[in-house]
Amino acid sequence: MAEKKGTYYITTPIYYPSSNLHIGHTYCTVMADAMARFKRLCGYDVRFLTGTDEHGQKIQTIAEEKGVTPQEYVDGVVEGIKDLWSTMEISYDDFIRTTEDRHVKRVQAIFNKMYEKGDIYKGEYEGLYCTPCESFWTESQLVDGCCPDCGRPVQKAKEEAYFFKLSKYEDKLIDLLENTNFLEPESRRNEMLGFIRQGLDDLCISRSTFDWGIPVPIDEKHVIYVWLDALTNYITALGYPDDPELFEKYWPVDVHLVGKEIVRFHSIIWPAMLMSLDLPLPKQVLGHGWLLLEGGKMSKSKGNVVDPVTLIDRYGIDALKYFLLREYTFGQDGIFTNEVMLKRMNYDLANDLGNLLSRTVSMIEKYNGGIVPDASTEDDIDRDLKAIAVGAAAKVEAQMDKFAFNMALEEIWVVIRRANKYIDEKCPWILAKDEAKKPELDTCLHNLSEVLRIVSILIYPFMHTTSDKIRKQMGLWYADVAWEDAVEFEMMYQEKVKKGEPIFPRLDIEKELAELEELQNASKDPEEVNIPLELKPEIEYDDFDKIDFRVGLIEKAEKHPKADKLLVFQIKMGTERRQVISGVAEDFTPEEMVGKKVIIVANLKPRKLRGLESRGMIMFAENGERCEIVTTIAEDGSVVD
Ligand code: MSP
Repeated sequence: MAEKKGTYYITTPIYYPSSNLHIGHTYCTVMADAMARFKRLCGYDVRFLTGTDEHGQKIQTIAEEKGVTPQEYVDGVVEGIKDLWSTMEISYDDFIRTTEDRHVKRVQAIFNKMYEKGDIYKGEYEGLYCTPCESFWTESQLVDGCCPDCGRPVQKAKEEAYFFKLSKYEDKLIDLLENTNFLEPESRRNEMLGFIRQGLDDLCISRSTFDWGIPVPIDEKHVIYVWLDALTNYITALGYPDDPELFEKYWPVDVHLVGKEIVRFHSIIWPAMLMSLDLPLPKQVLGHGWLLLEGGKMSKSKGNVVDPVTLIDRYGIDALKYFLLREYTFGQDGIFTNEVMLKRMNYDLANDLGNLLSRTVSMIEKYNGGIVPDASTEDDIDRDLKAIAVGAAAKVEAQMDKFAFNMALEEIWVVIRRANKYIDEKCPWILAKDEAKKPELDTCLHNLSEVLRIVSILIYPFMHTTSDKIRKQMGLWYADVAWEDAVEFEMMYQEKVKKGEPIFPRLDIEKELAELEELQNASKDPEEVNIPLELKPEIEYDDFDKIDFRVGLIEKAEKHPKADKLLVFQIKMGTERRQVISGVAEDFTPEEMVGKKVIIVANLKPRKLRGLESRGMIMFAENGERCEIVTTIAEDGSVVD
């Protein structure tokens, strides 16, 4: 066991259970999990907290729409979130729900403390409110008149409310941001400083327009408004204020890992609340970027979210985790595409790592009866491989200190790629042909085994199942994974290897892309999709009123003799018969149009289309790719397909 190095407390944001989580949410939790596992492996006493932020107007509205109570609604979604984390083997130590009694009573106690200190007072709030984000904004904060966080419209709102004296803490907050590395990177720190220097308004912390929230303990007409309820989860989960054991052990938190859009709440409001409570401040708030799709932001309402479960079912947990951690640079936004993901899985996992293991195990079975041989020779190539392998742990540590997961993995892959090259340089299959070269062959196989042992330790925080599989095939199933063993080279001693299934089967990228697209389209819930259509400019009612609609019966239809796209119709409208031409030959045959009753724009100015006159226009409507006819009732009244 590694020597104990003290405590390490890491948190994710608590997620809104407004819908199932997508790959973007998964990204943050996967990073926190990798860090927690890494710190544990390095000997820290880790506490990893995640959870759900369950109150607020939006949840209440969704529940009402679904005809269930808010509690019933969140219970269902939270179960799904816990299932997802369990599928992904997320190693959290505690999962806090803001609807739990332990949280509710502690938030109320916190409210009372702040009130007694004079930091909470009753006033009236008037502002611009974004319902989905549950945030009030000032005029100057809006972007193009819309919510700066989600881009949606805001509404004017006014109500009696309790306020937290955020403005009182302005100077202390400036001091915190200027003189510590509490918030990184520097650009974000400057952004927040700029924000504070504009002047902080006191913060509205209660609402009385809905009741799905924690009641204000001194005034039950109000519920505690989202950020006081949500941010305090980080301390209520540790027992604050009534149960000091965990709190004294783990607070202050080492890292709050959060998405970039909520950095502001964590680096201004949260420290101010802690100052009000006279509590130590978080050591660090780290903001990560977003995973975007090629078309922009992922959102359930746009119907374009990527479901992590679909990917896990097909490729396994470790391949997905590897991709998320390896592909994106911490702090920056990144684009998610199936193709980039599949290529990473093939090149890095199946080719580099998978091949190294299967080649090594096969050769040990073939050339040494499945037993890892001892090494008795050494040349420059061996020395180079060794130096790279034992030097990797320190490099990984340095990258993990910066939360540079992608670079930490790159350091590990430097070792893996070096080992593959080592096989090509040593050509064990040639050494095997010459009995006199047996010592060199043994050294080669031994060194490759040592490298795989080291790799199995280095990848453990990121892909523990793969680490276990490698260790099993290398005959190391009996030994615990210990980080300090990654800097040792001579630890393998005649282990018996055993070839298993390929740890990452090669993927047929074209086939996977096609199947994934189909699956991802099928999993979109049409009821949830609500993307505004791109329409022509709005028209006035008066414009519309100029149109004279009439019902007409199509008596005859034929192709236009001079234009493939046009159909020529003979239509009976009341007493009148007339010819109308429409450009729908690609969507309808003449035969299927005959006998249909249609709606005609009857007062449209006549025009000639490729030599034939058209008087009026049949109403067709666009429906995605296809054009649809507006009425499908036949003359006899039956519905025509
Ligand atoms: N409930 C608040 C957080 C309160 S913490 C005291 C909240 N919830 S959320 O569910 O909307 O978002 C949770 C986290 O998921 C945020 O950090 C957010 O940045 C992150 N992500 C949501 N979509 C994301 C991507 N597409 N990509 C990366 N992270 C994303 O905010």
